[in-house]
Amino acid sequence: MALRNSSFHLLFLCILAATTRASDAGGMPQLQAFDCSTADNYTATDAYAANLKQLLAALPTNTVSKNGGFFNGRVGQGAATVYGLALCSVDFSRSDCKDCLTTASSSSGGLLKICPGSVNVSAILDQCLLRYSNRNFFRTAQTGM
Ligand SMILES: *[C@@H]1O[C@H](CO)[C@@H](O)[C@H](O)[C@H]1NC(C)=O
Ligand SMILES: *[C@@H]1O[C@H](CO)[C@@H](O)[C@H](O)[C@H]1NC(C)=O
Repeated sequence: MALRNSSFHLLFLCILAATTRASDAGGMPQLQAFDCSTADNYTATDAYAANLKQLLAALPTNTVSKNGGFFNGRVGQGAATVYGLALCSVDFSRSDCKDCLTTASSSSGGLLKICPGSVNVSAILDQCLLRYSNRNFFRTAQTGM
């Protein structure tokens, strides 16, 4: 697994473009590492795309407001199921975490812009961690990321 740390600047620009309300305490979410799958990509008309959008739209609230800084769940059925996981960093406030997840989950920016079409994406930012996949990884330990 190759983490593309060197793409930090690209992400930073994307997040900059996606975040117009970045004046909240804690500042801009900073990407530490991310990984986008490159095989079996979904297209905009796939059910997977719709399920992913639905999962991401609810992720900040589900993670921060409903589950105390941790979330895992799924949206959809069969091959179009999207499994998602999010975590708040303990070093930042929940408000900063929510901003981080909101930016990373944005339908106009964030991971959907950085990894367009990728079914399996992991990202670590300062204030939050985010992962989604078309496979159920909840019981699979992932080392190195
Ligand atoms: C799948 O999407 C990623 C971007 O997320 C891209 O880098 C990769 O080239 C795509 N793969 C194919 C086969 O189109
Ligand atoms: C998803 O990506 C992670 C990180 O690269 C990798 O460890 C995992 O095997 C991938 N899972 C699938 C189902 O592709």
